[in-house]
Amino acid sequence: MIVAANFKTNLTRKKTLNYLGALESILKEKNISQEVLVFPATSSLDEHEGLVTVGAQNAYATFNGAFTGEIGQEQLDEFGIKTILIGHSERRHVLGETQEELVTKFNFYKELGFKIVYCVGEPLEIRESGNEIMMKYISAQYEGIDTEYENLTIAYEPVWAIGTGLTPTLDDIQTVHQALKAKSKAPLLYGGSVKVANVEEVLSIENVDGVLVGGASLIAQDFAKMCEIAQEIENKE
Ligand code: PGA
Repeated sequence: MIVAANFKTNLTRKKTLNYLGALESILKEKNISQEVLVFPATSSLDEHEGLVTVGAQNAYATFNGAFTGEIGQEQLDEFGIKTILIGHSERRHVLGETQEELVTKFNFYKELGFKIVYCVGEPLEIRESGNEIMMKYISAQYEGIDTEYENLTIAYEPVWAIGTGLTPTLDDIQTVHQALKAKSKAPLLYGGSVKVANVEEVLSIENVDGVLVGGASLIAQDFAKMCEIAQEIENKE
């Protein structure tokens, strides 16, 4: 299973370092062999060795150059970062990244062999428009994306479930995941208000290969607990 933490614009460089130290020691102590990814804020990126893979929440499709406010491959290389999150709903809906821009970014980092966690998901009004419209909307987020890329992980995150405490029913998650698995065999994570209290039921759904956790990942002990639960489920299977 894959357990991923997206810090968004939270924690400082120092707090991130402390967090990773605490997380690594719990994962070691509990014998966790699941894939654990952490996406800190850009200013907290650093070299990291251990069970956890540190990735970037975003980067521009360039080695370097004149792109004020952005970072490129050169800045990621400094810290040995080879994992990136692309298409998160906040980048799509708050920062206004278009599908075309995301495809350019995807292809750039794919060429470099990066592990890409590519996010898809529908806003509430689309979900409320019915299954057909919703699946059409999500399908458009696959346009231009190489769904057979060997280093691809996909995260399904309904926009209305992110940071709201709301989650779709387990049946709804299962239905969407089943449909998305038909589009790509890549590991498929669920994200949106996942926390210690619900991670077990989410991870037990068929075709859920892991979780992408935002708010509830900010406390190392809580996130470690979710990794532990993932390990227990894997051990049972
Ligand atoms: P949340 O965020 O867990 O705070 O809902 C998930 C995400 O945006 O990846």
